[in-house]
Amino acid sequence: MHWHESFSVGVKLIDEHHRRLFTLINELIVATETQQQEEAIGRVLQALIDYTKLHFRSEETLFRDLGTFEQHAAAHRTFEQDLLRFIAANPTNRPESTPRLITHLTHWLQHHILQTDIATFSELGFRPREPQEAIEERLHLLTHKPTVLIAEDSVPTISSPNRSSPKNWVSGSGTA
Ligand SMILES: [Fe+2]
Repeated sequence: MHWHESFSVGVKLIDEHHRRLFTLINELIVATETQQQEEAIGRVLQALIDYTKLHFRSEETLFRDLGTFEQHAAAHRTFEQDLLRFIAANPTNRPESTPRLITHLTHWLQHHILQTDIATFSELGFRPREPQEAIEERLHLLTHKPTVLIAEDSVPTISSPNRSSPKNWVSGSGTA
């Protein structure tokens, strides 16, 4: 997964959190694809859970100060429960068990940022409101398979979605 400007919610701290979540999911994909030991996969999963909690609390604190967003917070709780359910069902962290989780994580996080987060932050005035066409253009990015393997911050990003050059947005071998 590559973070790029289309995912920006207009708040630097939250964008940094989202980038970190992308990096952690990439680490999980790398750990799975390279068949790392269960202990290593468990470590990445725990880091992901801890960071997700921290991030959701930050977002919710911001929202609480500016209005009420129960539905948004409920989506966060559901995601946390999904993660905990997965951990409970797969206590050994075997690499074979993680691809389905990775599919869920990549899908959920990208959709949540592009739809729910961006809508909320626009409503709060951090991002300009956009025409439906622009939102759909961004959602088009989600039709690309999530791919990985470069967990670095220096990869080139694209400033606006471009249907004709998905190569800037994806690289590496596919998973999920
Ligand atoms: Fe959110």
